[in-house]
Amino acid sequence: MKINNPRIIEFPKIMDPRGNLTFIEGDRHIPFHIRRCYWIYDVPGGETRGGHAYRSNNEIIIAVSGSFDVVIDNGAVQQTFSLNRSYYGLYVPCRHWRELVNFSTNSLCLVMASDDFSETGYIRYHDDFLHEVKTKHV
Ligand code: TYD
Repeated sequence: MKINNPRIIEFPKIMDPRGNLTFIEGDRHIPFHIRRCYWIYDVPGGETRGGHAYRSNNEIIIAVSGSFDVVIDNGAVQQTFSLNRSYYGLYVPCRHWRELVNFSTNSLCLVMASDDFSETGYIRYHDDFLHEVKTKHV
């Protein structure tokens, strides 16, 4: 298995009758230093988000509330990960096309990213993505 494959990471859980707690430390629980966080919320029924890849940005995607699916394509194989627990994160390495679909009502998607935001770091067209993964080796 390639080290840089997308995968689910289970975070620590502190179970407590008063309510449970989960935490993440960059470099310890996830394979990069966290540089940026963003979240996606109030997604209308049937909408999708994402639909792009990054040239160098790595991400952890968490369904902090509710559920959604993440469809990941490495240029050859497509995989769907269903996220519905706040203590699971999906590691999505750079150079993977990803799309977020099937959002439940009131779901909250938290993303931790390795890089600052940069529009030039996006691969917005799937044909460009296929070209880059087939021709550029990093
Ligand atoms: P984008 O990543 O394209 O979201 P999606 O692929 O789900 O549509 O981001 C949408 C807009 O938000 C785009 O104009 C860029 C901007 N944006 C930032 O300014 N900073 C960020 O950290 C992110 C993730 C997006």
